[in-house]
Amino acid sequence: MKVSQVLRDMTPYKPGKPISETQREFGLDRVIKLASNENPLGPSPMAVKAIESQLKNLHLYPDPTQYDLIETFSSIWKVSKKRLSFGNGSDELIDLLVRIFCEPGEGVLTTQSAFAAYEVSAQANRAKVHQVPLLPGFKTDLEALSDFYFSRPEKQIRLIFLANPNNPTGTYINDISLKSFLKKFEKEENVMIVIDEAYTEFVRAKDYPEAMKLVESFQNVIVLRTFSKILGLAGLRLGAMVAPEEVIEIFNRVRKPFNINSLAAVAAIAAAQDQAFIKASQQVTWKGLDYFYKELQELGLPYVESQGNFVLFDTLRDAQKVFQALLKKGIIMRPVGNYGLPNHLRLSVGLPEENELAIKALKECLKEI
Ligand SMILES: Cc1ncc(COP(=O)(O)O)c(C=O)c1O
Repeated sequence: MKVSQVLRDMTPYKPGKPISETQREFGLDRVIKLASNENPLGPSPMAVKAIESQLKNLHLYPDPTQYDLIETFSSIWKVSKKRLSFGNGSDELIDLLVRIFCEPGEGVLTTQSAFAAYEVSAQANRAKVHQVPLLPGFKTDLEALSDFYFSRPEKQIRLIFLANPNNPTGTYINDISLKSFLKKFEKEENVMIVIDEAYTEFVRAKDYPEAMKLVESFQNVIVLRTFSKILGLAGLRLGAMVAPEEVIEIFNRVRKPFNINSLAAVAAIAAAQDQAFIKASQQVTWKGLDYFYKELQELGLPYVESQGNFVLFDTLRDAQKVFQALLKKGIIMRPVGNYGLPNHLRLSVGLPEENELAIKALKECLKEI
């Protein structure tokens, strides 16, 4: 079979281990998955109601113009309707942005331990990925990114991906640093800077930037959002993009006309108005994170303070062994060896009882390994 060597060599995206697979493998009744940064409260109840009322229309194609979504979110986010479009999860947006901006062999720039989908999408679209190292404390090195871009024009960087906050590190870029970084690129017409805000609603840092506003002031900034995290709709696949009008215009030509299914559209509109659910999701996350910090500190395991709904911690040993031992006890965490962090695990916040069971299992495993 003739298949591109780039695709044969490609590193596939490694999702969190599914609950059902773990139950089968280890003969377990109860398995707790804290591996994919999902919302432990489930979907917003208002979203579920909206889906129920939409079920009778499943024989109809969804609206290819995304009219209701655009009306609703341009008003919630205070952005022009012409600067907004939606994708089948933000991973579709990432993929199509690479397809739009990179010719084969051109470059995508990001950091080490950045969200893996940037690399996977770049490879699938025959673009080249370049990564700069992180600063101590797993922080994004904006200086290194701009140095790379301006000193290596032969790499033909067309896209720079910044997850803010980043997954799996949980670190963030503050307002002043982001603006001064973007200023350096103000006149660059052949590169787009994509700020992926999948975890924005969980951020507690006071100096976190309002990136959507920056799309108006900079001609080459794109902001991505997801409905998979705080709104609890990961299974429906919906992501949003705020971008310059010209980008949206091209994106709307490239995307499939029915990329957003009709259930996702009504659910997102309902969930975004479910303030009680959003507040409860923040509270459960922040309490869970604080609990993890306290326990990890007591265990003497270094962790990275997180602005997301997960925490990255150092097991101080081969994390793959800890991961396997935890699976036997019915706890799924996320190994991050593929991010160059063989001793770390990423732990998503669950319900309080799930968090306690995860820490109890971790304590037992650490004694064995
Ligand atoms: C930083 C980041 N961006 C994007 C995504 C993908 O989100 P979606 O479910 O919208 O494809 C994730 C999912 O984990 C993520 O961590």
